[in-house]
Amino acid sequence: MDQSETPLVDALQRCAVRPNAAFYTPGHKRGQGITPRQRQLFGRLAFQADLPELPDLDNLFAPEGVILHAQQLAAEAFGAQQTWFLANGSTCGIEAAILATCGPGDKIIVPRNAHLSVISGLILSGAVPIYISPPYSGDWQIPLGFINPDSIAEALKTHPDVKAVLLVSPTYEGICSRLELIAKVTHEYDIPLIVDAAHGPHFAFHPSLPKTALESGADIVVQSAHKVLSAFTQAALLHTSGDRINKHRLSQSLQITQSSSPSYLLLASLDAARHQMATRGEALLTQTIKLANQAHQALEKLPGLKVLRPGNRRDAFERDVLNGDCTRLSVNVMGLGLTGFEADRILHTQYSVTAELPTLSHLTFVISIGNTLEDIDRLIHGFIQLCKSHSSNIHQSNSNFYDQQSHHLVSDLISDSAALSDAFSVAECSPRQAFFSTKMPLPLAQTIGRVCAETLSPYPPGIPAILPGEVITESAIAHLKATLAAGSIITGCSDPTLQTILTVAL
Ligand SMILES: Cc1ncc(COP(=O)(O)O)c(C=O)c1O
Repeated sequence: MDQSETPLVDALQRCAVRPNAAFYTPGHKRGQGITPRQRQLFGRLAFQADLPELPDLDNLFAPEGVILHAQQLAAEAFGAQQTWFLANGSTCGIEAAILATCGPGDKIIVPRNAHLSVISGLILSGAVPIYISPPYSGDWQIPLGFINPDSIAEALKTHPDVKAVLLVSPTYEGICSRLELIAKVTHEYDIPLIVDAAHGPHFAFHPSLPKTALESGADIVVQSAHKVLSAFTQAALLHTSGDRINKHRLSQSLQITQSSSPSYLLLASLDAARHQMATRGEALLTQTIKLANQAHQALEKLPGLKVLRPGNRRDAFERDVLNGDCTRLSVNVMGLGLTGFEADRILHTQYSVTAELPTLSHLTFVISIGNTLEDIDRLIHGFIQLCKSHSSNIHQSNSNFYDQQSHHLVSDLISDSAALSDAFSVAECSPRQAFFSTKMPLPLAQTIGRVCAETLSPYPPGIPAILPGEVITESAIAHLKATLAAGSIITGCSDPTLQTILTVAL
C-alpha cells in the first residue's frame, strides 16, 4: 500500500471547505453557529471539519470507503491483520476486547495492576478475573509491571477453562512483559492473548524500541495513539491478528462501547498520525530517543534522584530485567525527602515542568515525538533547582540517603504501598456481581474483611487499589489513605474523602 496516502484526512478536508447547506448534526452547522470565544480558541476550520457521517465520509461501524482504506493503511503500518479506529480511547477497545472474548461466568487472566477499563470490561461482560500480581521492586518502590510467563503457565494449569489472557505491556513506566513466551503459553490452550498496549503505539517504528505485541503473537492489541503519537486525545487503535477472534462479535462490541457519533476530527487524526509514523517515524523517534538520552544523562548525575529507564542499554537491570521503552523516564525523588506528588507540584508551579504520572515515590515523564530540546533543558533545569532547594535532605556521603524525618514520612507511605502488591488476588465475587449487588456504606474502620462493592482507584495512575468483589484488607486501606494524604485523588468511589466505602450487603 502507499503509506504516503491520507484518505480520511483528504476526504474530511474536501468536505470541510465545500459550501453546503447543512441540515444535519452537529448544531453549530459547520461553525456558522459558534461564539467568538469558540472561534478564538478552536479556530473556524475545526468546526467546519466537525462533520457527521456524510456520504463522502464513510461510516465507522460499517466502513467501506475512506475509513476502511485508512484502517487498512494503519493495519499495514502497525503490522496487524485488521485495524479498527477508536474514538473513545483505549478504554472502549479494552472493554470491547473483553466483551468479544468472554461472556458471563467465563474466566479471564488479568494482571492486578490493570487499568480501570479492564474492570469496566469485567463488569460489562460478567467475566470472572483470575488476578496475577506483577513483582514489586522494593529498591525502586514500584510494581515492576511485567508478568512472568511462568505465572501465566501456572494460572492456566490451575484454570484450564480460562477463555482469554489479558496483559498490560508496556506499563505506564514503559516496562514490557516477555510477550513472545506468554503468547506461546497462552496459545497452547488455543485461547487469545489481549494486550493493553495503550502506551506502546510507537514501538513498530524504531528498531531500538521493544518488539511490538503483534510481532510477539498477541491476538488483540489496543493502543492509545493519542498518548505518544500526534493523534487527538481519545483517538486510539485496536488491532487483531490470527483467527482466534470472532471479528463480527468484536465489531458489535465496539459498537456497544463507543458513541454512535464518533468525532471525525479524532478519526482523521488517526489517519494523519499513521501517515506521519509510516513515512517519518524512524527519524522522529531517533530524535526522541536522543532527547531521552540527554535527559537521562543529566538527571542521573543529580544527587538525591534515581532514574529508571527501561530498555536502557547501559544498565544491566534496565536492559535485562526491565525490557522496555527507553523513551520513558521515571525519576524517584525519595532521596530529596519528597513524595512524587510534592515534587510534581513544585516542578509544575515553579518551573513549568509537568510530569505525566506522579506517584508516592516517583514521577514518570512521557518523552515523545512532540518534545523539543527546549523542553528537555527546562526539565533538567527544574530538577537542578529542585535538588538544590532540597539538598539539606540529602545525606552528604550517599546521594540516595535522605533526612531522617523525611525518610520516615516517605518510606512509611511506600511500605504501605509495597504491602498492596501482595494484598490481593482472590476476588470473593465477580466485579459484575459486586457492581449489581445491594450495597451498604460502612465507615472505613468497619470495612476490613468485607467485600467491596465499588472501585477505589488513586488517580493518577487510574490503577485500582481495591476492586469490586475483593475483600477489603488493612494494607489496601492504609495504601489508599497514604495516597490520599500525599495529594492523589481517589476516583470511582461514592465517597472520595474515604470516610466510607460501599460494601456488598450481607
Ligand atoms: C495502561 C492503560 N491502559 C488503558 C488506558 C486507557 O486509555 P485511554 O485514555 O486511551 O482510554 C490507560 C490510560 O491512561 C492506561 O494507562
